[in-house]
Amino acid sequence: MTDHAAHPLDDPAADPFALAAEAAAQIAAITGVEKHDIALTLGSGWAKAADLIGETTHTIAATDVAGFSKPALSGHVGTLRSVLLPSGKRALVIGARTHYYEGHGVRRVVHSVRTAAAAGASIMILTNGAGGIKEHWTPGTPVLISDHLNLTADSPLEGATFIDLTDLYSQRLRAIAREIDPGLDEGVYVQNRGPHYETPAEVQMAKAMGGHIVGMSTALEAIAARQSGMEVLGLSLITNLGAGISPEPLSHGEVIQAGKDAEPVISALLARIVAAL
Ligand code: HPA
Repeated sequence: MTDHAAHPLDDPAADPFALAAEAAAQIAAITGVEKHDIALTLGSGWAKAADLIGETTHTIAATDVAGFSKPALSGHVGTLRSVLLPSGKRALVIGARTHYYEGHGVRRVVHSVRTAAAAGASIMILTNGAGGIKEHWTPGTPVLISDHLNLTADSPLEGATFIDLTDLYSQRLRAIAREIDPGLDEGVYVQNRGPHYETPAEVQMAKAMGGHIVGMSTALEAIAARQSGMEVLGLSLITNLGAGISPEPLSHGEVIQAGKDAEPVISALLARIVAAL
């Protein structure tokens, strides 16, 4: 169901960066933390990392912060957390993702990323649960995102804003992740609009275009993170093989279950990566 409540970003005249600055100021006021160094968006399967990376000092309902929306999916947590890392750095953990398929527009999709940048974060870690195109990626495999194909035909950039996306998914951060887990494979993430899963033909199209991972998030957020000057680390949890790669039909329940099963292992991995940044 579409939420018809007025949202500040629905007004075309609204300044999304001013709203992000307002949200960041609210987060600073509530937490007493002037600057967050790292931000993490935790998608399906990754939520437990929030408990492992450090000490949560504040948990904020996302709806208490300007411009954030209630998560559309039950099972997705609608909170922002300020976490004190053992290094003394601060992480902002975003458990409230607005997906493009919700139909609220790309400004709302990337508001959390812009807020993280306005809160001071220089590193944006984007995680998701996704379908795998490489047959040896069994459900539960974490994969580094090396690049993306944005098939939403949309962009968070407005007007004549030309931004280089070379090395969008930072080589430096990928190398750090690989020092923690040398077995981490990587691949090109394909963002589709969803919310339907792909047809087998679409999965083959993604493969022919050089894609390895299919999902419904992340690419638009990564573009916004680059625009805000952040370094991006992208990680996908393979929850299933892409449609038609295996003979099994896809089910949302199985995708969620695969995320739950893998959660302890991949969350621990992510915590070790964060500790090394
Ligand atoms: N396709 C798109 N999004 C997904 C998938 C998939 O196979 N699995 C989990 N999210």
